[in-house]
Amino acid sequence: MTQATGRLIDGNALSKQLRAEVAQRAAALKARGITPGLAVILVGDNPASQVYVRNKVKACEDSGLHSVLEKYEAGMSEAALLARIDALNRDPAIHGILVQLPLPAHIDAHKVIEAISPAKDVDGFHVASAGALMVGQPGFWPCTPYGCMKMLESIGYDLKGKHAVVIGRSNIVGKPMALMLLQQNATVTICHSATKDLKAMTLQADVIVAAVGKRKVLTADMVKPGAVVIDVGMNRNEEGKLCGDVDFEGVKQVAGWITPVPGGVGPMTITMLLVNTMEAAERVAAA
Ligand code: GUN
Repeated sequence: MTQATGRLIDGNALSKQLRAEVAQRAAALKARGITPGLAVILVGDNPASQVYVRNKVKACEDSGLHSVLEKYEAGMSEAALLARIDALNRDPAIHGILVQLPLPAHIDAHKVIEAISPAKDVDGFHVASAGALMVGQPGFWPCTPYGCMKMLESIGYDLKGKHAVVIGRSNIVGKPMALMLLQQNATVTICHSATKDLKAMTLQADVIVAAVGKRKVLTADMVKPGAVVIDVGMNRNEEGKLCGDVDFEGVKQVAGWITPVPGGVGPMTITMLLVNTMEAAERVAAA
């Protein structure tokens, strides 16, 4: 018997399309004398963070957004970082501010995020942004779950009345993801490390979002045939190859739709950062 295989949701293709739209909007705003600008701050020399910020800055340039990358030594004081954020909050050429996480241990990340003006919080990590999402008011949505929602939208998936299971409860992905799915009228279950029977939950799901940061959290026996599977994971296997939280080869035999790693959620995260920065600049222009 030949098994059906899930259709891929191509994050690269969708990103390309959305980034082209951003480039058009950026050009339109530039014609009015406003260039959308993103400031990216990196403290320390975490190798993964260095790659991420480089990709973010390059994506800005490719779409016609202005970007500045500020790199500081790991020993930078919290006060100095807060002073830089204060200056960027006041800088009219900057519409979005992103402080790459994690920060060195001597710096209070929460305090730093709260210092960013909510009007420039394009990462959507500020408590004001989280609150706006919770109550359904306009604000910036965290880029990774926002990108997942765009992927569902791209396949014309109607979440109303569907059961969505989110695996992971981080402030960056799991919690905002659950709120976005809820806003689209899904019934949402959040699973995490203390969940007693994960498989019993995922087997009921029409949509599964895996955002744990651990390989093979989701295997084929845990997925209802035809379910949509979104893989937020970014892990390395024994050979050093990038892989997600989902056992892709197995799960794709059961799922209706599935996102690959790489080429799935990853590119969408940066794309939604561009969208948020564009939105921030347009709000300033409209004010
Ligand atoms: N570190 C890992 N992911 C992210 C992200 O989306 N934004 C920031 N600022 N730091 C991160």
